[in-house]
Amino acid sequence: MRGFRSLKLSLRFIVPLVVTLGLLAYAVVPFVDKLNKRWFIRDMDIRSRLIANTLHEPLAELLQQGNKSRINSLLLRSIQDERLLALGFCSDRGELLYRTPTFPKSISCSSEVNDNKEASQILQLPEGAVHVARHKITQEGGINGSLILVHDTSFMERRSADTRTYVILLFVVLGIVTSLVTVFVAHLSWRGWMEGVRAMLKGEGLLKPFSDQKVNSELQPLVGDLKTLLRSMDAERRLADDSTITWSPDTLRNLLHKQLTGEKIIVVSNREPYIHSKENGEIKVHRPASGLVTAVEPVMRACSGTWIAHGSGSADGETVDAYDRVMVPPDKPEYNLRRIWLTEEEEKGYYYGFSNEGFWPLCHIAHVRPVFRTSDWVQYVKINQRFADAVVKEADSDNPVVLVQDYHFALLPGMIRKALPKATIITFWHIPWPNPESFGICPWREELLEGMLGSTILGFHTPYHCKNFLETVDRYLETRIEHESSTIARRGQLTMVESYPISIQWPPPWQGTLPPVEQTRAEILAELGLPEDQLLGIGVDRMDYTKGILERFNAVERMLELHPELVGRFSFIQIAAPSRSALEEYQAFETRLHALEERINARFTRDGRKAIILKAEHHEPDQVNRYYRAAQVCMVTSLHDGMNLVAKEFVASRDDERGVLVLSQFTGAANELYEALIVNPYHVEQTAEALYQGLTMPEYEQQERMRSMRSQVRDFNVYRWAGRMLLDAARVRQREKLATRIGRAS
Ligand code: F6P
Repeated sequence: MRGFRSLKLSLRFIVPLVVTLGLLAYAVVPFVDKLNKRWFIRDMDIRSRLIANTLHEPLAELLQQGNKSRINSLLLRSIQDERLLALGFCSDRGELLYRTPTFPKSISCSSEVNDNKEASQILQLPEGAVHVARHKITQEGGINGSLILVHDTSFMERRSADTRTYVILLFVVLGIVTSLVTVFVAHLSWRGWMEGVRAMLKGEGLLKPFSDQKVNSELQPLVGDLKTLLRSMDAERRLADDSTITWSPDTLRNLLHKQLTGEKIIVVSNREPYIHSKENGEIKVHRPASGLVTAVEPVMRACSGTWIAHGSGSADGETVDAYDRVMVPPDKPEYNLRRIWLTEEEEKGYYYGFSNEGFWPLCHIAHVRPVFRTSDWVQYVKINQRFADAVVKEADSDNPVVLVQDYHFALLPGMIRKALPKATIITFWHIPWPNPESFGICPWREELLEGMLGSTILGFHTPYHCKNFLETVDRYLETRIEHESSTIARRGQLTMVESYPISIQWPPPWQGTLPPVEQTRAEILAELGLPEDQLLGIGVDRMDYTKGILERFNAVERMLELHPELVGRFSFIQIAAPSRSALEEYQAFETRLHALEERINARFTRDGRKAIILKAEHHEPDQVNRYYRAAQVCMVTSLHDGMNLVAKEFVASRDDERGVLVLSQFTGAANELYEALIVNPYHVEQTAEALYQGLTMPEYEQQERMRSMRSQVRDFNVYRWAGRMLLDAARVRQREKLATRIGRAS
């Protein structure tokens, strides 16, 4: 195809070249023919003169003698020459006195040679063309007259025809040689040109000066145009990074419309955004406790499209249509939720087993050993394939934009890529990525990495996780890694690895609708049976060993030991949503947590005022928000966390610009919320001190810190998170389109 293209390009040069050569040949051949004939006639004139001069003397002598027979014999002898056809002698009176037998009858002395001048001409006779020359023969006292020499010119015609053939052949050879040289040069130039353009599309011309000569000089005029095009795409990207712009659902919608021509988005996650369950015969809708859902749901509402997820609710089956779809949010339907069904065995292997006993502890360095079973792996592969098939069914084009979420679907990008090679696959990894040594213990590490490299864009929360991933790939797979552009090339597939710190919706959904903080605090205290001046701390997590809840409780205990004046005056509320409770590790954790809570409360409960209030049950987002607003301090003490959106939700909830955030240094959020009190949760005293500092922080300092954190969360909200990824996707799509077009043309 490529060869055909360059041939087509060459033909653009060859066709005019051949036409020009043809016209030139058409003009040149008669000219050469004429010139040739003129030279022959001149030659024959000279030849005739030479023969005439040779014959002059003997002929004059014989004429004077009147010896007819010798004259005839002289003439006959002379025409032995193959080209001299005939000789004749005409008297001055115009009588043909002597002639060889070959002398053409149609030539008479009177007609052609009747003047006294010596002359020659070509005569067209019925027998063919002849050259007739006349030479005066003079003698004293004898007959004066002219010798007529008739030359056969047929050889002249033959030679002319040969010359014509040679000239035409010369032009044909010239045409062929020139065409071959043109094809060769055009092919070389085309290849050079293509390589140059491709180099530019890879960004080489944008990042490095063109003097590096990646791009050849003939491309210089084009370089400007391509640079402008690519820069305009980069400008859009910079727009996403411009912190002065507040991103909103509208910004995101416009971007989708402008950059991705209104593409329908397909999101894939394990956890669904809305769970229908049956309680006392009634169908209820819940929002799960999930950072992923908190972040992606508002994006989906802005973009619309389809969200494919595991239908895990007891009434999920009853609420879908014939295609397993239901429009959500239930109160204001904006996008499709497509549910995928799993059997108990499948869920056990894929979700509980491989994802949460294997992958989860593998990626979180939280000192719980991963467990890998082949039976779990088999289910993991099977369910990834089931989701991939669903993506293919939901896609309404061959190049959909698919957003794959999290560690449940490491194989999915590769499977989608196989079915839809042109799809734009954005994979976002919501949890940390470990170092290569830690990841290396996974028996299916190569398969998992290969699956992930089916993505067009692979996003992590932090540059550190990206670095870990690049190093892991480098260690276990044969790839080419471009560190400058953070891309991995494997088997012709390019994956861009980039950090996209996730965030939450801004403004928060309840903005301007809630009662003042003081009122909420008073209500909460009343609900808990606590006095009005009781100080409150809050922690909100899934019941998970990575969240550092035990360490948090230890810090509360230590703080009360160190500051006994706060015993009975401070209560720490821990909301712990039940999570993965089918797993032994989680059950053991819950048991330990309850035991610790009881032990601490046994030590520090005063007048019924508990030090720790553990609420191990599900809370809807609006309920959680009330607790955020009521507390003086929020504690996020994860032992390892991708981002942790609780930290950002707390900040967003505090429109009173008060409240203190104690934040683990092992969360992604610690890279953004510098004004939090950053702690190492493993260090009990440090965390206890931070809690105390938070409870006693002057209001002006609280305000200063909170204001700064709020502006960070406002500016880097979830719409910017999604927007940056979609802009990068649009840029990649644009480049791929250009490359395909150029590939098609080459
Ligand atoms: O943030 C990590 C994460 O695993 C998300 O993928 C998930 O939504 C959340 O924690 C809750 O986990 P699960 O879906 O297992 O309840």
